[in-house]
Amino acid sequence: MSHSHPHPPFQPDDTRIAGRLAGRRILVTGAASGIGRAIAELFLRAGARVLALDRHRPADFAGDAELWLACEADITDPQAVERAVQSAVGTFGGLDGVVNAAGIANTDWADEVSLDDWKRVIDVNLTGTFNVCRAALPEMRAAGAGTIVNLSSGQGLQPFKQRSAYAASKAGVIAFSKSIAMEWAPQVRVNTICPGAVDTPMVRGGYTAEQLHSQVGPRYALERIGEPQEIALAALYLSSDESSFVTGITLAVDGGRSYH
Ligand SMILES: NC(=O)c1ccc[n+]([C@@H]2O[C@H](COP(=O)([O-])OP(=O)(O)OC[C@H]3O[C@@H](n4cnc5c(N)ncnc54)[C@H](O)[C@@H]3O)[C@@H](O)[C@H]2O)c1
Repeated sequence: MSHSHPHPPFQPDDTRIAGRLAGRRILVTGAASGIGRAIAELFLRAGARVLALDRHRPADFAGDAELWLACEADITDPQAVERAVQSAVGTFGGLDGVVNAAGIANTDWADEVSLDDWKRVIDVNLTGTFNVCRAALPEMRAAGAGTIVNLSSGQGLQPFKQRSAYAASKAGVIAFSKSIAMEWAPQVRVNTICPGAVDTPMVRGGYTAEQLHSQVGPRYALERIGEPQEIALAALYLSSDESSFVTGITLAVDGGRSYH
């Protein structure tokens, strides 16, 4: 990506990040890859302790090994999720927040998608998010306060064709998040991020580098796709005390794809 752009992806140094999540213990799903990985790394730099969960065991993180715990679990399995939450409680003494970044894509046409594939997308993206939020709730209540950040998508706001299962699952994440923002207030703040296209293995699975540059980027007011770090910075804000008066929102971080 050209960095002559007037708003290039922000790469803050540690002086801008250090301490912003001091004392917070946060479960990040999807932490083996892409956006979830960037969130776990940024949160560690911000002083959080992180339970990094993924169906593929996340690789080791840089820095003090006391500050993170890697856990292999499938978010569609409520018992595996509960075991992961308890391992965070055992290691960190509790849990103050969750970021749900695990997810899968699907690009089948609605008249062709198999019922199994449809159900799998809903099961991972929507029910998996529900499983993690519900397992973490008692711990956040025990801590007295908590934050949840759920990853939806621009497809949950303005879907394209060949996204029906994915878009439905991601619109479900928005509605579910707003509902629990009401139910679990005032102890727990719940917010949703809707990324536009971000350069991760998920997006690289659907587009070539040339397509991302020539077809996808031009759909965005800012004329480029995003980097995982730009989503992680939004998750950092929504997981920190800096967003103390923010709950129930749906924040598009999409270079201006969905607002018009
Ligand atoms: N990359 C984008 O352009 C984009 C845009 C909008 C929304 N999103 C959303 O952001 C989130 C992260 O996407 P990404 O691009 O980093 O994808 P990615 O494929 O790079 O990473 C997703 C991670 O989720 C994990 N995962 C998948 N199913 C799981 C399960 N059942 N249990 C536990 N872990 C599981 C995968 O192993 C992987 O490590 C997803 O929810 C995705 O839908 C991504």
